[in-house]
Amino acid sequence: MSLRSLHLPGVLALAGASILAAYAFAPPRPTPAASDAAPAYAQNGDMLPPANYREWIYLSSGIDMSYLPRPADMTMFDNVFVNPPAYRSFLSTGTWPDKTILVLEAREARDKGSINQAGHYQGTEIMGLEVHVKDTARFPGGWAFFDFDSPAANGTLIPSRAPCYSCHLQHGAVDTTFVQFYPTLLPVAQQKGTLSADFLKESAAPAK
Ligand code: HEC
Repeated sequence: MSLRSLHLPGVLALAGASILAAYAFAPPRPTPAASDAAPAYAQNGDMLPPANYREWIYLSSGIDMSYLPRPADMTMFDNVFVNPPAYRSFLSTGTWPDKTILVLEAREARDKGSINQAGHYQGTEIMGLEVHVKDTARFPGGWAFFDFDSPAANGTLIPSRAPCYSCHLQHGAVDTTFVQFYPTLLPVAQQKGTLSADFLKESAAPAK
């Protein structure tokens, strides 16, 4: 018997076994998703969902911050997360590296439930999910926004004429992001001297 025929059935049996095992024991295949190291895209330019963003670094929550278009009778929280490699880089440089992925998740603020008598807590339903991603080889200006219908679906690129870009550019304290509202990062940016000139001017102006 040749060496080849001796080994071949074994290899096939092994391959067969692992295919079977994959069908029998593997959980349903997860939707392809961006890792925490870098954004990933579908062929049509959509962004793959940052599926495990809830395990990333938590930056802040805002409640009813007024730039969010929303019906007047709905109170909302927004929660901001960032991919861990970008967060670590920010701590040492005071600004964002290429491949930064920031996620803004909106949730309904609820007030009646369980023992709660006053104040608000967050509902389980995600009302909105937006991503701000830095990918300098891909986007003119370095950054882009994507809108996601759900944490499991691909996100759509928001065109660069949308007000997202101008507000973030004019008012974001560091590199088009709202570091002035992220309490663990603002002191880092202050210390590293990375706050934008516009933000410094804005915060020096007398309050209206
Ligand atoms: C009028 C100003 C304004 C506009 C317009 C705006 N944003 Fe923001 N954005 C903010 C502020 C303020 C925060 C900080 C939120 C917080 O502290 O919770 C923020 C935070 C974010 C974040 C978290 C990461 C970061 O960059 O700081 C994302 C993602 C985001 N916005 C997406 C969008 C998208 C998408 C649009 C357009 C559909 C948009 N924003 C339009 C003011 C704005």
